[in-house]
Amino acid sequence: MTERTFNSADRIMIGFDKALRTLFGCPQITERSNPASDLTESDMNEQERDLTARLMRINHTGEVCAQALYQGQALTAKLPEIRNSMERAAQEENDHLAWCETRLNELDNRKSLLNPFWYASSFMIGAAAGLAGDKWSLGFVAETEHQVEAHLNDHMKRIPGQDEKSHAILAQMKEDEVHHATVALEAGGVTLPTPIKMAMKLTSKVMTKSVYYL
Ligand SMILES: [Fe+2]
Ligand SMILES: [Fe+2]
Repeated sequence: MTERTFNSADRIMIGFDKALRTLFGCPQITERSNPASDLTESDMNEQERDLTARLMRINHTGEVCAQALYQGQALTAKLPEIRNSMERAAQEENDHLAWCETRLNELDNRKSLLNPFWYASSFMIGAAAGLAGDKWSLGFVAETEHQVEAHLNDHMKRIPGQDEKSHAILAQMKEDEVHHATVALEAGGVTLPTPIKMAMKLTSKVMTKSVYYL
């Protein structure tokens, strides 16, 4: 039996299971190997290492949010093909989640304590976007991915150049996020109103600032 035939109660249980695994389990790499796995660890001083770890923690939480957004949207998507494409994207984001977690461990740092809060918030935002209708939901994906792309560019400038491992991960993530945005627009995503875009930017600013410390 495929997931397509599950009823609403099944979907809620599957969603709950995915939430627990995202927050408290070790994500499985579902498709691709870690782009940093063949690269050697670089020499960074304590300050550089601390900054890199905090930025990778933010990226990890961003991927926790991506899981929640896509799961929330998949739950409320109207068309089965949209739901499937959301679930497919969440699977690809799972690679990012795993790579960020591995890098965080290598840098001897921890995941954010705020992940459960950001997961719950993102899930509700994703579900609301799905309820608004598929063209809005897809538009929301495209805008989110564009904002993530800008954020990754910023991190790639701030992480020391010699840290090839973090750079390799972020470069692959950026390529994937750009692709997710393109797919969402091609599937019928519309441009969001400016106040919504501004609210999304503000929310992501609160997330990045809080996770930098916690
Ligand atoms: Fe991602
Ligand atoms: Fe993405």
